[in-house]
Amino acid sequence: MIYTSRIDLSENLRKQASALLQARLSDALDLEAQAKQAHWNVKGPHFLQLHQLFDTVHDEIEQFVDLLAERITALGHIADGRVATTASATSLYGYPFEAVGGEAHLKALAGSLSAFGKAVRAAIDDAATLGDADTSDLFTQISRETDKQLWFLEAHLQAH
Ligand SMILES: [Fe+2]
Repeated sequence: MIYTSRIDLSENLRKQASALLQARLSDALDLEAQAKQAHWNVKGPHFLQLHQLFDTVHDEIEQFVDLLAERITALGHIADGRVATTASATSLYGYPFEAVGGEAHLKALAGSLSAFGKAVRAAIDDAATLGDADTSDLFTQISRETDKQLWFLEAHLQAH
């Protein structure tokens, strides 16, 4: 479904850009839940620091979700944030239910964040090729922040 709009982008471009955005929206919604999974369930000697770190990562991803969804609506499409859609459309691996210690959660979340970052980086060029510089810029913004959050996670794994 596409709404008519006064925006100076063609319907075809808006449709294709929205599809790019929707794919990463489903990933981001999955990733957001994964960060909470880590936040809630981590145990071990660095519990409090990691508990807080995972919540910080969650909050950043929550902003990605809003940026992606609201670009879709700005382009005249419907942002699909339904749980069933996220579950079927996410490209990320499922979060390990049995993860317990800090290292297990760090590795699981870093893996998902890395996969998300790779897909977002590809979308930068895809959106630019379509001719939608604004969507490309939005992906660039998310990509840069994803790299930073990945650094925060990996710094805990690189200490030895
Ligand atoms: Fe909390």
